Amino acid sequence: MKSPETSVPQFDLIASSFRSQLLFWYNTHARDLPWRRSRDPYRIWISEIMLQQTRVAAVIEHYHEFLRRFPTVQKLAAARESSVLAGWSGLGYYRRARMLHAAAKLIARRRDGKFPTTAAEWLDLPGIGRYTAAAIASIAFGEPVAVVDGNVERVLQRVLGNRLAKERIWQAAGALLDPNRPGDFNQAMMELGAVVCAPRAPACLTCAVVNLCAARGELPATSVPARQQKRDIHYALICRRNHKGQEVFVVQRPRNACLMAGMWELPQAIVREAGEPVFTLKHSITTTDYSVMVYRKGLPAGADGKWITGSQARRMALTGLARKILIHASILWGSPEDDAARFPHLIV
Ligand code: ADE
Repeated sequence: MKSPETSVPQFDLIASSFRSQLLFWYNTHARDLPWRRSRDPYRIWISEIMLQQTRVAAVIEHYHEFLRRFPTVQKLAAARESSVLAGWSGLGYYRRARMLHAAAKLIARRRDGKFPTTAAEWLDLPGIGRYTAAAIASIAFGEPVAVVDGNVERVLQRVLGNRLAKERIWQAAGALLDPNRPGDFNQAMMELGAVVCAPRAPACLTCAVVNLCAARGELPATSVPARQQKRDIHYALICRRNHKGQEVFVVQRPRNACLMAGMWELPQAIVREAGEPVFTLKHSITTTDYSVMVYRKGLPAGADGKWITGSQARRMALTGLARKILIHASILWGSPEDDAARFPHLIV
């Protein structure tokens, strides 16, 4: 399959075959996993947190027992932390259990027991990153948002015949997603990656979408690592404070740009006027290693962009680098890895 930006009508046609072939296969071959028997957001949320770092087989062993102990979000919220950690026993990575418990308290007490229904709202809870938010919102609420985990990433790279950068993978997943059955589509992609399109020796002969796959096998190893280029890049961090809190000024990349078209980023700073950077960081995009210099600036006259708060930033299509800079500047809380920064009291 060609990547989404080639020819739109051609891509749409192939995407539609891909969806129907994949879902037909999923209808008949999906593993009968306990969380797939329900659309109860509580059960789906618990399963997705358990599945974050634990194999399906190990999750199945603990899933029922955990739900028996904590059958509702209210029961989980009311439990002592020691008892939640005990219920998590055998699953490892106990930080997940602490985050789950903290999120249960927020849902039970601040949201009156009502679960968020969109990925954007789920993202505001502890322990929920981009993948988990999309998984829960699509599976439990039918929101058309795509997921990318390791399995989905591998499937997409092979289908498109290209080792795409992370953000491109999310875009491709979104372009392929079946908006009518987003939860099933997402689970079918994970399933295909887990049981057919395995990391080594993919079972292409039994693959439901082999006819649409560019690689039909493992992608060739990148034998000679591409030589990394080095570049300096300078960005302006333009902030203001008003009744909404702290806001930052962002600009949109041109819709016809080759890379990250239409996404939002910080304005570039003009080097000769830049002065001393407030911080620097490193960032790599494909074959280029950037030294990123960030400068505090005022708003230049006639600048074409918009002011956003940190929580708006979380919901926007920011470039990976812009997200990294805003997290570094403590304007945006990332997820899930930087839960440590958002909820330090929960990290032991
Ligand atoms: N891994 C994460 N979520 C999953 C799901 N819903 N089904 C199978 N594997 C998964």
